Amino acid sequence: MDVGVVGLGVMGGNIVLNIEDKGYTVGIFNRTSQKTTDFCGKNTGKNIKGFYDLASFVSSLKTPRKILLMITAGAAVDKAVESLLPFLDPMDVVVDGGNSFFEDTERRCRRYNGRLLFLGCGISGGELGARHGPSMMVGGDQAGWCSVKEMFLRIAARAGEKSCCGYLGLGGSGHLIKMVHNGIEYCEMELLAETYLFLKTSGYRNQEIARIMGHWLTDECLNGYLLEICIAILEREDDVIDTIEDKANQKGTGMQCVLTGARNGIPVTVMGESVFARLISSRSSDRDAFAARVQEGSRSAGIGISDLENGLVMAKCIAYAQGFDMITACGEAYGWKFDLQEVCSLWKGGCILRGGFLNVVERMAAERAGSLSLSAAFISMHKKKYESLKKVVTRSIEAEVPVPALSSALSYINGLKTKRGGGSLIQAMRDYFGGHTVSLVGEEGNVHIEWYKEQH
Ligand code: 6PG
Repeated sequence: MDVGVVGLGVMGGNIVLNIEDKGYTVGIFNRTSQKTTDFCGKNTGKNIKGFYDLASFVSSLKTPRKILLMITAGAAVDKAVESLLPFLDPMDVVVDGGNSFFEDTERRCRRYNGRLLFLGCGISGGELGARHGPSMMVGGDQAGWCSVKEMFLRIAARAGEKSCCGYLGLGGSGHLIKMVHNGIEYCEMELLAETYLFLKTSGYRNQEIARIMGHWLTDECLNGYLLEICIAILEREDDVIDTIEDKANQKGTGMQCVLTGARNGIPVTVMGESVFARLISSRSSDRDAFAARVQEGSRSAGIGISDLENGLVMAKCIAYAQGFDMITACGEAYGWKFDLQEVCSLWKGGCILRGGFLNVVERMAAERAGSLSLSAAFISMHKKKYESLKKVVTRSIEAEVPVPALSSALSYINGLKTKRGGGSLIQAMRDYFGGHTVSLVGEEGNVHIEWYKEQH
């Protein structure tokens, strides 16, 4: 067998079929053996062979062996690698293709160094991506990458001439980039959901919202996979959207991204609000109980559609700027040299974020102005679209429509525009109660101000 895949969930099963399509023989193993039997039964006549014990699974593989783990992130990955280890040689490659936290991948790379070649590969694109070509963000052992490179480039999506699979660096770099992808995915989804709610509370029917969004497909800043699926969901004549419970779930990558951003000094505010919005959404019984005791808002948030479009673009741009600032900051903190344009090209095909906006981000990154928000392209976007975002948020507040991600995008921009904010008062309070010292304008070093005379 050319390659082995462990885990036959939705992503695992589809990636097996994708690899086999490209001319490779695939050995498969699943913890629950029935799944292996069912999968083989459904895919007879293909170069896929099921195994029911790890020893024969591993020994069926050509050396150096290549094993792709498609299992749930967390303890299951450690368990799987530990149980494979006795059968493996130091030149064998194990790739974790799940949504592992990048620091876990760092730890695993260190732990298995010299015992096997470990890679962490963020795979994006859901079921269809896995089947026909996902975006693949690889990090870890360089020799391991050389071993799987050819196969990975063949199974990944392409955007024009370029493959959407690439090696980003050592350790957890691939999973870090996938985590930021997911953080931005949360932002885009929340911004679209807020826009939908805004239109819905303004009295538009689902199909009308789909039509409005359909016009946005011609906008380079908005077109893309997530907008396309919103349209497909909303245009259905059966209004199925209205029957789905308003309780957003999450598996945790968004939250990990927000925590990592904050730890590295990056205000990923839109991402934070997008995660919190899902938490508010999931606490529907609290919302029901509260709504029953207070008067509901006026709920008519009418606004010009072009302002809504421009406001959405501005907010999306801020979300991406924050995400890319985070990539730069984490690169510096962990010693990875990320090329932001390269990241854009990995995301242009196969993944959930694919869309025209990546061309815009690429142009911003090409200016190499540090933060994307300092690029001329961002400044010109601000000139054209900021007022619209302000109008959308103002109207939403008046109509009591919750738009936390749009609002936080606006607040972020307002924060950036404010040369002298309230930070001086925070510093003064810190120094007042804790003697933390302050730095004075135009002076070197820190001083403690004598705020009060002790009373005896
Ligand atoms: C992708 C997605 C995927 C993610 C799901 C669910 O790139 O294909 O990011 O990896 O697991 O979107 O994520 P949540 O359950 O956290 O929304």
